[in-house]
Amino acid sequence: MAELLIGQTLAYAGDALLEGPDAARHSARGGVLIEGGRIAAVGEADDLRRAHPAARVTDYGDALISAGFIDAHVHYPQTAMIASWGKRLIDWLNSYTFPEEMKFSDKTYAADIAGRYLDLTLANGTTTVCTYATIHPESVDAFFEAAQARGLRAYAGKTCMDRNAPDGLRDTPQSAYDDSKRLLQKWHGVDRLSYVITPRFSPTSTPEQLMAMGALWRENPDCLMQTHLSEQTDEVEWVKSLFPQSRDYLDTYEVQGLLQEGALFGHAIYLTDREVARIRETGAALVHCPTSNTFIGSGLFPTMDMARKGIRVGLATDTGGGSSFSMLRTMAAAYEVGQLRGTPLHPSQLWWLATQGSARALRAEGRIGNLAAGMEADITVINLASTPAIAQRNARAKDIWESLFPTIMMGDDRAIKAVWVGGRPVSG
Ligand code: GUN
Ligand code: ZN
Repeated sequence: MAELLIGQTLAYAGDALLEGPDAARHSARGGVLIEGGRIAAVGEADDLRRAHPAARVTDYGDALISAGFIDAHVHYPQTAMIASWGKRLIDWLNSYTFPEEMKFSDKTYAADIAGRYLDLTLANGTTTVCTYATIHPESVDAFFEAAQARGLRAYAGKTCMDRNAPDGLRDTPQSAYDDSKRLLQKWHGVDRLSYVITPRFSPTSTPEQLMAMGALWRENPDCLMQTHLSEQTDEVEWVKSLFPQSRDYLDTYEVQGLLQEGALFGHAIYLTDREVARIRETGAALVHCPTSNTFIGSGLFPTMDMARKGIRVGLATDTGGGSSFSMLRTMAAAYEVGQLRGTPLHPSQLWWLATQGSARALRAEGRIGNLAAGMEADITVINLASTPAIAQRNARAKDIWESLFPTIMMGDDRAIKAVWVGGRPVSG
């Protein structure tokens, strides 16, 4: 049966980073018609009601109907150690991350955390994530099984590391290739799931392992490839000492065939002009992780600068380096980072980043991340007055952006009124 959701609606007809609020399409009384798991039409509520009298109507009143959020870079295995105190990236990885990731050789533990993680993200209005698993193949199976059971469009890959990681958390170039290939063949394209080739980052992969990942990608060019790039200055220096012949950090990936469209580089704060030019030329994407960058003390990513240069930028929590599961909190941090760089992002740009921006980074903009006919019906409904503090500010709002911004800055999972996945309600 067709479903008709009614409320305020927010969609995009263009790139809001470049066009600002003009790219947005807002209706104060809009409707979204869902048929067979997809959006069949978006328009004015009264028109859609008249045209589809048999559709089952869910009226969300003043709440805002949006595409679900897309979190383009996370580590689901870090769920239970989110908000671990202090230090710089490499200490943080050694002190908290690697000991936790060690536990994922146990499939039961991995399944428990995968389910917990996806329930948390859905409660925060996130309908697609792109995650790193651990080196253990079981951790990939556990995640995809949990995502499949929830009907999600989801992206994941086995994290590959063959050096500078503790015993029990290292693979080899050959085993990383074999395990990744097997997992790719098992999961890629099954239901709404996609495999992502995942070398963790150059410090934990030998050139031989990066080469093996490059070979696997050449054999499976429709997969995405995700890794980290230039997150902290001491990490960049470390890469220089590990790869003395490389032109720069990006080059360590580029020479192994790991730079092309479909590559996702997390963080990418400290790029040289050559790196920026090559990323633009190849159509690779950068993923901004603002709560992580402030939490681990990494630095301020230049979102507007990169967008104006024609580079795709997605937005992400980087759970558990990031300090929140919420893309609302992540948008707030992106705004604050923009302010510190002297380029404040408009609410339309923040919302676009968390939906279409991330979808474009994942090369999935034709499927998810917008309200438009033909898109998959992954939808989040936002209560724009979810706490007394937000409600009293919202009451003064003169337009949709003044109405939305208090929720971006102060909202959390209490603002998520309902979530629909593949045309089915998850909650609300
Ligand atoms: N660089 C390599 N691995 C990681 C990770 O797990 N988190 C963050 N923030 N950066 C990384
Ligand atoms: Zn990361």
